[in-house]
Amino acid sequence: MDQAQRLREFMNRHHVQEEKKQPSRMITITSGKGGVGKSNFTLNFALALKEAGKKVVILDLDLSTANIDILMGATAKLKGSLADVMYQKKYLFDCIEKGIGGIDYIAGGLDIQELMKLDQKKLIFFMNQIQELNSYADFILLDTGAGISKMLVDFILASDETIMVTTPEPTSIADAYSVMKAVHQFTVQPPKFRLVVNRAKTYREAVDTSRALKNASSVFLKMNLNTLGFLMEDEHVGKAVRSQTPFYLSYPNCEASKNIKQIMYTFLPDMEGNPSSPIKGIRGFFEKILFLRKS
Ligand SMILES: Nc1ncnc2c1ncn2[C@@H]1O[C@H](COP(=O)(O)OP(=O)(O)OP(=O)(O)O)[C@@H](O)[C@H]1O
Ligand SMILES: [Mg+2]
Repeated sequence: MDQAQRLREFMNRHHVQEEKKQPSRMITITSGKGGVGKSNFTLNFALALKEAGKKVVILDLDLSTANIDILMGATAKLKGSLADVMYQKKYLFDCIEKGIGGIDYIAGGLDIQELMKLDQKKLIFFMNQIQELNSYADFILLDTGAGISKMLVDFILASDETIMVTTPEPTSIADAYSVMKAVHQFTVQPPKFRLVVNRAKTYREAVDTSRALKNASSVFLKMNLNTLGFLMEDEHVGKAVRSQTPFYLSYPNCEASKNIKQIMYTFLPDMEGNPSSPIKGIRGFFEKILFLRKS
């Protein structure tokens, strides 16, 4: 019996609730290089999915660089985080913040090492709590911080899909490639990756960027990187950041908003088709994280 099976047995033995509905899909948004537009993409993409009738929760698993709450105009102290759930100080639903445009947000603040050390009672409480999200959200978007770490690789391997964001800058392309390479080193079965090129000045530049990364991944890593879409350089993005209101709401007709809508139209049909592999969901995500850490 492998570690994951052991963990599942443990969960079943201790009556951790079973999945009742289609699990939420866990989508990690990452980049390698910082400051390329992950958080802005995550928030505005969440708004577009919500507009399409989907329930979305943004989960911030890296408090050191978390700023989604600022982009949403939050000024008050956060109600709680996954760390509070981990230590049984709060119920998960008491930690959900209602952000601008009705987007739900949960702060992470979670130390995976600490999660590993939890006693059985706390671990069962935690797993039961996060599982509650399955009856609540269609998509859980994980906004990650800058930098490549073992934890980021774990998140990517445990997610149902990863959206890689890059700009056309060579340093950003190189860092995106480095993330894919790091993931490649840890698994024989590459996870699903899709690419968003952000801040391209022309369509040509966006196409060239996606080709460069797709070719390098395919030739050197044998990994498939399909393009999810392009987000052009648009001054409205910066303006929206300064006014702490997402551009998708404050400038619904600007180029970046149209690009986000197009990305949502590409993303949803693919997601709703028959998935080739079973959805891991949030429970599968944390089971896998624990398993990867133990192995
Ligand atoms: N399409 C765009 N057009 C113009 N400016 C943009 C665009 N996308 C992002 N920006 C600018 O880049 C800045 C950084 O974006 P954001 O905070 O989303 O990056 P990030 O990748 O989340 O950064 P970090 O790695 O620090 O978390 C924004 O404040 C905005 O000014
Ligand atoms: Mg960010």
